[in-house]
This record gives sequence, C-alpha cells and structure tokens, in this order.
Amino acid sequence: MTKSTNITWHEASLSKELRRQQNKHHSFVLWFTGLSGSGKSTVANAVAQKLYEIGVRNYVLDGDNIRHGLNKDLGFSEEDRKENIRRIGEVSKLFVDGGQVVLTAFISPFQADRELVRSLLNEDEFVEVFVKCPLEECEKRDPKGLYEKARQGKIPEFTGISSPYEEPANPELVIETNQHTIEECVNQVIEYLRNREAI
Ligand code: PPS
Repeated sequence: MTKSTNITWHEASLSKELRRQQNKHHSFVLWFTGLSGSGKSTVANAVAQKLYEIGVRNYVLDGDNIRHGLNKDLGFSEEDRKENIRRIGEVSKLFVDGGQVVLTAFISPFQADRELVRSLLNEDEFVEVFVKCPLEECEKRDPKGLYEKARQGKIPEFTGISSPYEEPANPELVIETNQHTIEECVNQVIEYLRNREAI
C-alpha cells in the first residue's frame, strides 16, 4: 500500500462542540462487542430506537452490513478483522466529530483492536459494552445457522469455534443477554448513559 504524502489536516469551521450544542447532547461511541449470536445487533438497534425517541441523534454500524460495502474486501483472518475494526473506529470517530452517537455491533474479538479504537477517542467518547452470553447459548440460538456450518468445518476461522474471542478486560458495561430480556438490557444501557450525563 502506498502511503499518502503532502497532505494537510483542514480544521472544519463547524466544530464538534457547535454540533453538540445544536443537537443538545454529547456525542460518543457505544461499542458493543460479543460472540456471534450474543445479541449485539438486537440490543444496539433497540438502544438506538430508544435514543431516537428521546431526540438523541444516532446511527448503528453493524458487522454484516458494513461487510457488504465499506469492508467488502475483508475476510475473517486476524489481519482482516484488525483492519475491519480499525476502519470502523475511524468512521465512528467521524460520527462523533459530527455530533452524533454511534452504536457499533461488531464481534471485535481482539482486545488490542478495541483498545486501538478507544485510543482514537477522548475518554468520555468511548463506552465499551460487553454483550456477554455463553458460547453454548449462542450456539443453541444459532440464528443464521453459522455455528452448525462452523462445526461441520464449512466456515473456517469462526469466532468461538476455530478463532478466539478475547473477553473485554475493563468494559464500561456488561450486559448478559441470557439472564435478562432485551428491554432490561436496553434499560441498563440507557440508565448508565443517564448516570454519566452522556444523554
Ligand atoms: S469481526 O470479528 O469484528 O471482524 O466480525 P464482524 O465484522 O462483526 O462480522 C461478524 C459477522 O460476520 C458473519 N461471519 C462470521 N463471524 C465470525 N467468524 C466468521 N468466520 C464469520 N463468517 C461470517 C456473522 O454473521 C457475524 O455476525 P454476527 O452479527 O456477529 O452474528
């Protein structure tokens, strides 16, 4: 890859602060991480709905969807997952700069990659949400039939089966989707954000 040279950063005339003032809320990333089938997308979309209803401008970035477009050149090797998360991190940062709340739903299995995203943002702009659900339960749910295929050896490097998932060491939030209803999980996230005065 050829790196760009002779490039200069242009400061936007409309700052992040001005956009936040107009939106009347903070902008930040809600980073959902967890196994396939743990409920990342379901919870992220339900939280997004709730935020929308209370006037918080937001957008959901979802693993499967992003891999249809922006990241369709990437697979599931460790290197490609790293690049996947790096790009999402940069995109998320743009949303935050634009004054919005961005909810991301990616397996993001590696601690180092999640930490890299955290390092791109200010401390109050990154909320890591561990969507915790035992592998056996995810495999039982198997909403897309992927675990079954992975067990049959038809999907290489499948997270939890033939590729690792590193649990977050210090997430801001842990939600347990096999212990609570979706509504309870959503309320847990909203309450956390209210307590932090992020919304
Ligand atoms: S990662 O690890 O963060 O780069 O993955 P992500 O971009 O979130 O994509 C995960 C979705 O891709 C489907 N899928 C796989 N997941 C894991 N491992 C392998 N090998 C794989 N192949 C395809 C799967 O539908 C994941 O979606 P979710 O919503 O997590 O079930």
